[in-house]
Amino acid sequence: MENLVKRAAKDLAESKYAIALTGAGMSTESDIPDFRGPKGIWTTNKEAEAKAYQRYELFLNNPRAYWEEMLGFQGTYGTFYEHIRQAEPNPGHYALAELEALGILNCVITQNIDGLHKKAGSKRVLEYHGGVHALRCISCGLRFAREEISLDELPPRCKCGAALKYDVVHFKEPIPLDVMEESEKEASRCDLMFICGTSAVVYPFANLPRMARFPSGRLIPGLDVMGHKANVKIIEVNADPTPLTHEGISDYLIQGRTGEILPRICEFLHHFL
Ligand code: APR
Ligand code: ZN
Repeated sequence: MENLVKRAAKDLAESKYAIALTGAGMSTESDIPDFRGPKGIWTTNKEAEAKAYQRYELFLNNPRAYWEEMLGFQGTYGTFYEHIRQAEPNPGHYALAELEALGILNCVITQNIDGLHKKAGSKRVLEYHGGVHALRCISCGLRFAREEISLDELPPRCKCGAALKYDVVHFKEPIPLDVMEESEKEASRCDLMFICGTSAVVYPFANLPRMARFPSGRLIPGLDVMGHKANVKIIEVNADPTPLTHEGISDYLIQGRTGEILPRICEFLHHFL
């Protein structure tokens, strides 16, 4: 692993526009379970996964019932969301924040809703699946900090009168357009992409590495499109190989814990600066 850590530090030092994509594996060392790892929430609780697939529809049909479930009156999310709001960043989050402070990492595009990248000091964070720290109106797009809105009356209402939901993007819910467009722009322009702690099986997020690899090619999720390969370095940092590894979308996988590998890359980087 050491050689790959050194190689990643060198690639990073030579990059012109580096970004990082992250998933739940970044936060397991902050005591937040991932979804599909051996102790993942979906791995261990298929019923919770099935409920998660119904959640957006529940909001659309019965926003009050959605809130009762989300606040844990009936579901498990009430405690889960409280738990992640209390969590603290780990060395992996701090390492990405340090790379940004060094002017080397330009942004983090995360699937995580826990807000830990910002808590660790990263400034430019695109929350692709939203976050538990805000509520959003799906009719006018307005977002409000969680503390701004009283939950005494359910569902909470936007200024436009529509019911508000958590800013979290549920399964089958469209990715907010502002975040999606910004993320695609970053993926297409980067010449180095770290992909940390994600199984890379959820779309459209998993399209972003393919956009980096084939900036103008058609996006065919899952297929290994033999198009032209842009001169981008795509580096995975993950406990296990993913479809990106198997399909050769990533150049190499540094297999292990993000909380150990990312700080090591930062340490080596100083040799190349
Ligand atoms: N270091 C590195 N990798 C890790 C670590 C760690 N400490 N802990 C777990 N992993 C790896 C797991 O092996 C797995 O490959 O991180 C990956 C986490 O994958 P998932 O659990 O599928 O999480 P993620 O990819 O973020 O899921 C995407 O699915 O349920 C939806 O909206 C949810 O945003 C989530 C999306
Ligand atoms: Zn509104």
